[in-house]
Amino acid sequence: MFEKKIYIKRRNKLKEMVKGGVALFLGNDESPMNYSGNTFRFRQDSSFLYFFGLDFPGLAGVIDFDSGEDRIFGNDVDIDDIIWMGPQVSIQENAAKVGVTKTTPLSKLNAYITDKIKQGVKVHFLPPYRADNKLWLEELLELPALRIAGHASLELIKAVIDLRSIKETVEVEEIRRACITGYNMHVTAMKMAKPGTWEQEIAGAIEGLAVAGGGMISFPVILSQNGETLHNHDHSQLLEKGRLMLVDAGAESLLHYASDFTRTVPVGGKFSQKQREIYEIVLAANNKATELIKPGSTYLSVHLAASEVIAAGLKELGLIKGDVKEGLQNGAHALFFPHGLGHMMGLDVHDMEDLGQVHVGYDEETRPSDQFGTAALRLGRRLQEGFVLTNEPGIYFIPALIDQWQKDKTNADFINFDVVNKYRDFGGIRLEDDILVTKTGSEIIGKRVPVIPEEVEKIASA
Ligand code: GLY
Ligand code: MN
Ligand code: MN
Repeated sequence: MFEKKIYIKRRNKLKEMVKGGVALFLGNDESPMNYSGNTFRFRQDSSFLYFFGLDFPGLAGVIDFDSGEDRIFGNDVDIDDIIWMGPQVSIQENAAKVGVTKTTPLSKLNAYITDKIKQGVKVHFLPPYRADNKLWLEELLELPALRIAGHASLELIKAVIDLRSIKETVEVEEIRRACITGYNMHVTAMKMAKPGTWEQEIAGAIEGLAVAGGGMISFPVILSQNGETLHNHDHSQLLEKGRLMLVDAGAESLLHYASDFTRTVPVGGKFSQKQREIYEIVLAANNKATELIKPGSTYLSVHLAASEVIAAGLKELGLIKGDVKEGLQNGAHALFFPHGLGHMMGLDVHDMEDLGQVHVGYDEETRPSDQFGTAALRLGRRLQEGFVLTNEPGIYFIPALIDQWQKDKTNADFINFDVVNKYRDFGGIRLEDDILVTKTGSEIIGKRVPVIPEEVEKIASA
């Protein structure tokens, strides 16, 4: 964990932002795979980690905005736990590591919260995403579990987002560590992209690197020759010479900060001309986005500029026709680029998505779009120094979507369906980097994962 002064400072900042009441942060519990004693790898809740740092199950944290008191609820281990888990530090000692002096057994949380409610004190909480925490809140607050997220505190949500959006120097250092592991994962995947190798061998090898780095993957590995399926977790195909392998993967650092990169590699080590032409357009869109990122610009404008690079490039190849800007306004590019340019990244790969994308990515000035494609943009608002985000433009040929647009004549004035249909078996290309917004512009975090086509070909064919 970080030094305790980091956690104290974060909680004190939150106390300046929320007017009154208490904030209740539930930690995560173990999550069973197939029976309660056989669990998935433990992952602490990110906001709990941010304010209370402790990375084990069975905890809740409370910040009292009226008295200024911080408190951790948790149980000390008994001899049974020590037999199975080894010697453990007391809750008091653990709490002291993050600057909290008051601890209380977890069994007293219910009485504590009930008492606050009886006194008319507002209990702020963040929207829960795990079923067990929804049930726990149902019991604590006497609100129905299925509708509990609707009772979450907007004041707390907004304050937490304001704090977590601006990365401290120590957080950027953690993200750099995650990026080093991510770099190794992607270079390994490139080296393994040989005809006759199973996709799952590569997916397994790179997931192993994340674990060997001391953390875990930051999201389930996406690796497929069918890269046109945006989140393709099927790794059951044998690599075939001449196809493209799309790999979207990242690691968590020891303190759970994420990296998230995508690279697209020619199986066998050589892009065909058709692949290379599309690859160059995606790379130009990615580079354009990095170039445009600076404090004060909206990420929506960067998304649209990258979309324009894609539309103009596809027009040169004859897939798009008519006026590029008009096509863009009508969302014609979204046939090929149906997702957003990028998202915030930090303790979560899609940072703070549990707190509500509209609050994380938008504000009163920049509202979400309802146009297909741009509607999937997770971040639109003005950028600030200290934001960390991803740029991940892509071009995909999704046969079902092509068929639907052709049938419905969607954007028929801007799409050359005859040419597009020649790319039906192309797959998809996405190129994703992790970016820090600096005082004057942006910085690609860490050493850039090889992206120049010749560079990728060299690694893939070595
Ligand atoms: N986790 C997939 C992505 O956003 O890149
Ligand atoms: Mn990704
Ligand atoms: Mn991403």
